[in-house]
Amino acid sequence: MSSQIIPVDPFDYIVFGGNGDLAERKLLPALYHRDHDGQMPDEARIIGASRSYISDEDYRSFASKAIETHVRPQDRDEASIARFLARLHYREVDAKSDKGWDDLKWLLDEGGQDRIRAFYLAVSPSLFADLSSKVSEKGLANAKTRLVVEKPVGRDLASAKALNDTIGRYFREDQVFRIDHYLGKETVQNLMALRFANMLYEPVWKSGYIDHVQITVAESVGLEGRTSYYDKAGALRDMVQNHMLQLLCLVALEPPSAMNADALRDEKLKVLRALRPIDTSNVEQRTVRGQYKAGASGGTAVRSYLDDLANGDSDTETFVALKVDIGNWRWAGVPFYLRTGKRLSQRMSEIVVTFRPIPHSIFDSSAGNVVQNQLVMRLQPDEGVKQWLMIKDPGPGGMRLRHVPLDMSFAESFHTRNPDAYERLLMDVIRGNQTLFMRRDEVEAAWEWVDPILKAWTDKSVKPQGYTAGTWGPSSSIALIERDGRTWHEPD
Ligand code: BG6
Repeated sequence: MSSQIIPVDPFDYIVFGGNGDLAERKLLPALYHRDHDGQMPDEARIIGASRSYISDEDYRSFASKAIETHVRPQDRDEASIARFLARLHYREVDAKSDKGWDDLKWLLDEGGQDRIRAFYLAVSPSLFADLSSKVSEKGLANAKTRLVVEKPVGRDLASAKALNDTIGRYFREDQVFRIDHYLGKETVQNLMALRFANMLYEPVWKSGYIDHVQITVAESVGLEGRTSYYDKAGALRDMVQNHMLQLLCLVALEPPSAMNADALRDEKLKVLRALRPIDTSNVEQRTVRGQYKAGASGGTAVRSYLDDLANGDSDTETFVALKVDIGNWRWAGVPFYLRTGKRLSQRMSEIVVTFRPIPHSIFDSSAGNVVQNQLVMRLQPDEGVKQWLMIKDPGPGGMRLRHVPLDMSFAESFHTRNPDAYERLLMDVIRGNQTLFMRRDEVEAAWEWVDPILKAWTDKSVKPQGYTAGTWGPSSSIALIERDGRTWHEPD
């Protein structure tokens, strides 16, 4: 079974930072896949742009290597690669001066005014303002222009507002696509399907029936060469402010009236605004910061965070765990435990919803324990959903109870390649569908909640605790949940 491919309208994708890491690892491979699957019209072009000079030919070799490295052999064929490479162009432009802009405009105009122009800012946020103004002032924008902004959108509320103001000077909000690639992941969208395309869950999706929710985004990798960005950000800004809060919102939101951009984003915004503050009064009870020490990852010895940094001295957290409350009727008394970190035991992201214990057991002790139901939504790897239930152990021997999963592993069930999140999102930009992108007020509401945590860490001198690389983080993150009589879900 495969999903339907609906071709998109003719477009030019202009990728600033077109020869950078994101373009190489994610954007070019994702665009290749969409072309390979027949979604791109003949006229579609992809134009890499950056400050360095690269010929069109060299850019095509760069893309060809990216495809070879990041696309599975079974999805590569010569004809598709040749067709994709023929769509590629490259222009040298300088965000800070006039250099190259006329040339880029000439190339775009050659494609005509009718096609969609999607400008993707895969560059440092310090260039967002210059690039937005140049695109607008140099006459590159047409009636069908969209601007795609990669995270981070700011490093606190004030800088996010300033950035949004700048972008807003040149582009309307309905033209701005703020990417949070977690929203493009299949399981994340499946969460919407599970909740709102079934009668089963919604009636029990609330505090009377749900005991607590866990969201784990664990990575086994370290800094991957992003030391200077990461050391200024840390796990709270890098992962919680965006990806993890977005996941939390999708678990917690009220049913939107329709699956459209504003209906969904209005509901997410209400969740963000209902988050109970974490500040100096409770930061020590509700947060844990960690930083990895030397250890092992996948059987290989790895260095500590401080050794990974050039300067070797830093209080930046590479791990964070939080206990979050949502102050509304649906979620009163249901804690959301969040944890994320680098150099953890394995790459594993999941959302676990644990239901309350049954109110009364009719079974005697020989039947064994009645374990609480759990819904486990696995984002990666092995995307899928498991609903854990109690059943009778089959066969004779009286009534013995067993905890078993109804298991829906997507790869096994659908025999289909799991598309990367960027594939869906890049095409949504062309379709003009903002449902899976963050609206300005959402980003700002998330910072409004995160800022007091950052401030409280400073005011209370909350330093990261060391954890050995290859483990699940500092022991205090285990204590954070265990003192409530709960445990982190053990991945299978
Ligand atoms: C990015 C973060 O947004 O997400 C990275 O900046 C992180 O630090 C990455 O590694 C994780 O994405 P994924 O899709 O690999 O889970």
